[in-house]
Amino acid sequence: MKNKDSRGHVRGESLFLDDINVRQGTLCGLVFDSPIAHGKIKNIDYSEAEKLDGIVKILTHNDIPGENQIGGIIPDEPLFAEDEVHYIGQPIAFIVADTLSIAKKARKLIKVEIEELPVITTAKEAFEKGLFISPLRKFELADTTKAFEDCNYVFEGETFTNGQEHLYLETQGSYAFPLENGNIKIISSTQGPTQVQKTCARVLGLSMHNIEVEVIRLGGGFGGKEDQATPWAVMAALGVKVLNRPVKIILERHDDMRMTGKRHPYSSRFKIGLNKQLKIIAFEAEFLQNSGAAADLSPAIAERTLFHATNSYFIPNVKVTVHSCKTNLPPNTAFRGFGGPQGMFVIEAAIAKASDKLNVPAYKIQEANLLADGDEFPFGQIAEHVESQNSWKQATTHFNLPEEERKIAVFNQENTHAKKGLAIMPICFGISFTNTPMNHARALVHIYQDGSVGISTGAVEMGQGVNTKMLQIVAMAFGIDPDKVKIETTNTTRVANTSPTAASSTADLNGKALLKACELLKDRLENVVQQKLKLNPETSVSFKENSVWVDGKKSSLGWKQLVMEAFLKRINLSEHAHYATPQIHFDKSKEKGHPFAYHVYGTSITTVTLDCIRGTYEFDAVEIVHDFGQSMNPGIDLGQVEGALVQGIGWLTMEEISYDKNGRLLSNTLSTYKVPDIYAVPDKVEIVPLETEGNEMAILKSKAVGEPPLMYGIGAYFAIQNAIRAFNPNSRLKFDAPFTPEKVLLSLYEQN
Ligand code: MTE
Ligand code: HPA
Ligand code: MOS
Repeated sequence: MKNKDSRGHVRGESLFLDDINVRQGTLCGLVFDSPIAHGKIKNIDYSEAEKLDGIVKILTHNDIPGENQIGGIIPDEPLFAEDEVHYIGQPIAFIVADTLSIAKKARKLIKVEIEELPVITTAKEAFEKGLFISPLRKFELADTTKAFEDCNYVFEGETFTNGQEHLYLETQGSYAFPLENGNIKIISSTQGPTQVQKTCARVLGLSMHNIEVEVIRLGGGFGGKEDQATPWAVMAALGVKVLNRPVKIILERHDDMRMTGKRHPYSSRFKIGLNKQLKIIAFEAEFLQNSGAAADLSPAIAERTLFHATNSYFIPNVKVTVHSCKTNLPPNTAFRGFGGPQGMFVIEAAIAKASDKLNVPAYKIQEANLLADGDEFPFGQIAEHVESQNSWKQATTHFNLPEEERKIAVFNQENTHAKKGLAIMPICFGISFTNTPMNHARALVHIYQDGSVGISTGAVEMGQGVNTKMLQIVAMAFGIDPDKVKIETTNTTRVANTSPTAASSTADLNGKALLKACELLKDRLENVVQQKLKLNPETSVSFKENSVWVDGKKSSLGWKQLVMEAFLKRINLSEHAHYATPQIHFDKSKEKGHPFAYHVYGTSITTVTLDCIRGTYEFDAVEIVHDFGQSMNPGIDLGQVEGALVQGIGWLTMEEISYDKNGRLLSNTLSTYKVPDIYAVPDKVEIVPLETEGNEMAILKSKAVGEPPLMYGIGAYFAIQNAIRAFNPNSRLKFDAPFTPEKVLLSLYEQN
């Protein structure tokens, strides 16, 4: 089935937050933020700003009726700064005005005196000074110290991966308005409506039932709206609480880029030990996560880094630690992959280093260490239904690796100023929120008396196609046309206590709850059929093609007629079901357990051609064998793989976040921050589904697909490195992403 949003999107008919007709008298909100990355607030003078005509009120921490606190995992983040500021872009006040232009004028008139304190922008500096967001985490399997002694080869190295700007097309925003009796409704562009509801209640000193949060759809989130959509919603709601008038805030791109956190930059160190057969015997890594000025989701992201530190390989001795380092940058946050990509880059770097020193292709080492059924992950989970070797074999065979290699060797021999490089990237990504209690969801299904259906779940549509998948589930379960099913907005009054739309688990969690609701309704309807057609209880009844089928034959009873019949018999035609992922658990005190419902696997082969005069490059092809399980929607799922791949390539090649030493974001516009465009897409992207059974833990055996393919982008980095080496064997190996054309050019002509 085609994505049900595509028509509306291309015609400009789909509704986003900013398309909602606002109530008369709606006010406009604008954030006044810290111009200094670290300091003590000595004085703030709002008087000039307040005098402006059209300024209704400037709200600060003094106006907060509840707690000035929005930290989810750790309570370390005020909504508005009080005495200190910790990053440029930190909200200090919320200007509420008749229009945006007046608010912007007012913002320029606010005078703030800040006594500056030392600014730390890198994880390494924070680590040296002992500045952390949370205690370190360590995963250990067997004994690396002893194992290294038995290794034939041991190599060490350092890596850096930079951050990444989410650049959702729709910037952050929220619209809040008063309901009766002091209640407030918020329409928010958030991945986490319940998080918004809960935090609003906390800051406004209300209960959760006083706050209704509604999400229509997002113009992209990519993790950037899992936690960081909340402050704007709370500010708008605070405006409503204080002024009893509707308040809307939509961040302009500049403000959004400056004020919000990004993917976490990581500085890491590794030590890898191998034997003569190229088996990796021991691996250690120390990850320094640049968390920014407050925790946000950093501890959970750090944890996922450890969960993915050995990627798709089995390593019998492992010790990996992660430190969440406190710096004076905006709190960094969730971004597609959620720390997993940062972990996986490091093991791939370690393998690349070993490959270089041992003078064997990296893929020989990769291939010798692929995960198999029964292997133990460093966190105790035993690998099952592993597809590492399958996907590797299918990719290298289907895309004829030896032939690819031969062609590259010939090309490199024949060309002096153009060189090609190849890299293989196997992936293994754990599906489930790593925090076990988050893995449950609810769905509400109404069958209306005319047979049409309305459904609500906790899923937020943000371009990933989850609404279409929900619709398919209902249409399939009831055997009715998809146009008889309506997906309602995501709303906390219809489906409560939702986990955010994240961790690639949304279709699994909400879809399974939805399917359960449909099954319960079907049971009731089946009873009605049995009675009406006077069937004996063994007769099989099913629903297909808008009709009731009896013992595999279409009966004269239509779906619509059956529903009316049930309604007249006073049968309940609504159901609210709940699903919680079975089997998963994790014990943080031991750092062992079974946190993931299943893993997603795949293998990509990336080839690149370098222009060795200019340092520019083009990706010839990325060929992928991906584990979709049994895809319930190949169109959407292929789109997810393509989008994630290009986003991953962007992260490792051209997207270069840059802060100056004062903590000021330099890459704060689209002219200084380059994201992949259509020309950056590899000439050929071929995605072949892995031949596999699928997994029962996935909805309809269709595996989660949102995040895993981003990590195919890691192959881009190593393909470039290999091409550089073909031109200049003297260039130093580098693990310093992104590999921008500038860095490529320097490497091409570097003499060691
Ligand atoms: N695809 C689009 N088009 N837009 C997005 O914002 N977010 C990604 C991924 N794919 C995103 C996307 C992220 S970070 C996640 S976690 C998943 O979608 C979330 O949705 P799912 O759980 O339905 O896969
Ligand atoms: N993935 C994505 N988002 C999350 C997670 C996770 O594991 N945990 C909390 N938020
Ligand atoms: Mo995705 S980073 O889990 O929102």
